[in-house]
Amino acid sequence: MTPDLFEEGARRVQAHQRELPGKTASGGRSAAFGHPAAAAGEVDVTHGRILYLEDVSVSFDGFKAINKLSLDVAPGELRCIIGPNGAGKTTMMDIITGKTRPDEGTVFFGSTIDLLRYTEAEIAGMGVGRKFQKPTVFERLTVFENLELALKTDKGVKASMLFRLDSANCDRLADVLHTIALADSVTRMAGNLSHGQKQWLEIGMLLMQDPKLLLLDEPVAGMTDEETERTAELFLELKGRHSLMVVEHDMSFIKRISEIVTVLHEGSVLAQGTLEQVQNDERVIEVYLGR
Ligand SMILES: Nc1ncnc2c1ncn2[C@@H]1O[C@H](COP(=O)(O)OP(=O)(O)OP(=O)(O)O)[C@@H](O)[C@H]1O
Ligand SMILES: [Mg+2]
Repeated sequence: MTPDLFEEGARRVQAHQRELPGKTASGGRSAAFGHPAAAAGEVDVTHGRILYLEDVSVSFDGFKAINKLSLDVAPGELRCIIGPNGAGKTTMMDIITGKTRPDEGTVFFGSTIDLLRYTEAEIAGMGVGRKFQKPTVFERLTVFENLELALKTDKGVKASMLFRLDSANCDRLADVLHTIALADSVTRMAGNLSHGQKQWLEIGMLLMQDPKLLLLDEPVAGMTDEETERTAELFLELKGRHSLMVVEHDMSFIKRISEIVTVLHEGSVLAQGTLEQVQNDERVIEVYLGR
C-alpha cells in the first residue's frame, strides 16, 4: 500500500468523522462475510479505517476490563492511547492481536477482516505487529542476525535453514537499519546495546515484516531523554507508511508525536481529540492528568 493511499484514507476518515460525530459507521462489517479470503491479501481500507472496534467487552472473573469499547484508526495514522493504570490499554492490544478473546463486540482489520476469527499467529502474519514493553531481542546474536531472523519467523525449520537473504530483503534490512539508527552497529551483539537501542532493534524486527499496523505498548518507558526524542522522530517517520497505535504514560512524548489522542478509562473511551482538547477535559483531569 502506498503512502498516498494511506494519506487519502486518513483524510477520508477525518471528513467522515466530522459528518458522523460519536457513532462510527459499520458498513465494513456486513461486507466482511462476502470476502473471507481477503485475509491472505491486502487490507481493504476503502472505508477509511485500518482498525475498527465496536462495543468490545471482556471480563476477568466478573471484572469488566474492557467495557463496550469502540474506536477506529485511519490508515497511516499515529494514534496515541493514554489512561490510568488498569484502564484496559494493554488488554485492548491483547484483543486486537488475538491473545485475548473478547466476550462480545466486533474487531475488524480493514473493512473485510474479522480479527476474532483468527489466531494470534495468523493475525501477526496478516501484518499486525506488536511491541511489548520489555525488549525481547536475541541478546547473543548480532543486530544483523536479529533483523535477518525476523524475516524467518513464519517459516518452517527446513525453510529457515535454506533461507538466504535475497536482494529485496537485503535492501529492506539496510533500510530498516538506517530507520532505527543502528547502521553503525550491525555487528554488535544485541546484548551490548543500550536499553533504547534494544527497543529500536525490536521495532526494526517488526519492520522487517513490513507490518500494516503496529501496536506499541509503553515504548519509551525506561529510556533516556535523548533516546525518547530519537524514538519520537522514528515514530513520526513511520507514520504514513504504517498505521501506529502507541500506548504511553510519558506526556511530553505524547505531545511530541500525537495527532488524535484517545483516553481510556475503566475499559472504554472517556475522551478523544487533540492532546490539548483532552488535557482540558474535566473528566480526564479528574481520572488521570490531575493526579
Ligand atoms: N488475563 C487477565 N486476568 C485477570 N485480570 C486481568 C487480565 N488482564 C488484565 N486484567 C485486569 O484488567 C485491568 C486492565 O488491565 P490492563 O493491563 O489492560 O491495564 P492498562 O491500561 O494496560 O494499565 P497500565 O497503564 O498499568 O499498563 C486490570 O485491572 C488488570 O488487572
Ligand atoms: Mg498496560
